[in-house]
Amino acid sequence: MSESTIGRRFEGQVALVTGSSRGIGLGIAKRLQVEGATVVLTARKPEPLAETVAEFPDGTVIGIAGKADDSAHRAEVFDTIAEKFGRLDVLVTNVGINPVYGDTIDIELDAARKILEVNVLGTLAWIQGAVHHEGLKFRENKGRILSISSVAGQNPSKGIGLYGVSKAAVAHLVKTLAVELGPDIRVNGIAPAVVKTRFATALYEGREAEVTAAYPAGRLGTPEDIGAAAAYLTSSDSDWITAQILTADGGLITAGGTA
Ligand SMILES: NC(=O)c1ccc[n+]([C@@H]2O[C@H](COP(=O)([O-])OP(=O)(O)OC[C@H]3O[C@@H](n4cnc5c(N)ncnc54)[C@H](OP(=O)(O)O)[C@@H]3O)[C@@H](O)[C@H]2O)c1
Repeated sequence: MSESTIGRRFEGQVALVTGSSRGIGLGIAKRLQVEGATVVLTARKPEPLAETVAEFPDGTVIGIAGKADDSAHRAEVFDTIAEKFGRLDVLVTNVGINPVYGDTIDIELDAARKILEVNVLGTLAWIQGAVHHEGLKFRENKGRILSISSVAGQNPSKGIGLYGVSKAAVAHLVKTLAVELGPDIRVNGIAPAVVKTRFATALYEGREAEVTAAYPAGRLGTPEDIGAAAAYLTSSDSDWITAQILTADGGLITAGGTA
């Protein structure tokens, strides 16, 4: 990413990216910040989050640690944004978990419940919070919402079936809320295939060339790839785009592959 080719589409705007101390969330936060946004970062672990915050130019981001599925954490995040900045323009719901691998038919229901709680209800709760908090003026600001789904939510992926179910639900939530919240608020999603982050390590480490062979683009994704797509979908450049899930997969699905 060359900064000289990047615009300043978020000048004066405030963005919240959940799960952004590393990986895709950080890729999105960096791109929004470089383009002028003040960005609020979240993650569970305070220390790595503080280290990430320290990598940004002074005063351009803040970090608030907590669990995405904890209502007290969400309230703290929204109240802090309202008090400090008095506005929210962009919400990126990026947190998603996949704590179990194996056949869906054998999944422990408590594990399934946790995945759905964090990935689906967590996404919904963040969006409810942003839209309903009067101090954020989200609707007045023509707020934009972006939720991270997955290609595993489009076609079943072996070993991560329930995760795929949750990501299919995220995609449908995006469309449902886009219909409900227009014309003031736009809601879109991104469905990535394998992006090189800690989360996806098990899907490519030690066999990257073999995995990459299924991708017409000739490589796996990077957090910067998703950051660039996210900036488009949350900027005024995509003003007529809502209720869409952008498949960011290097052509994998079209070529008949699965993540
Ligand atoms: N990487 C891929 O190939 C891929 C493909 C499709 C979709 N996705 C989706 O992309 C999103 C981000 O994944 P990633 O690959 O960037 O993962 P990652 O590299 O593991 O980063 C996850 C980030 O979210 C934070 N986080 C995790 N669980 C959290 C929770 N319950 N509450 C608050 N923060 C939490 C982590 O910090 P802490 O650990 O400190 O909480 C970290 O900052 C997920 O929704 C994932 O499903 C990823």
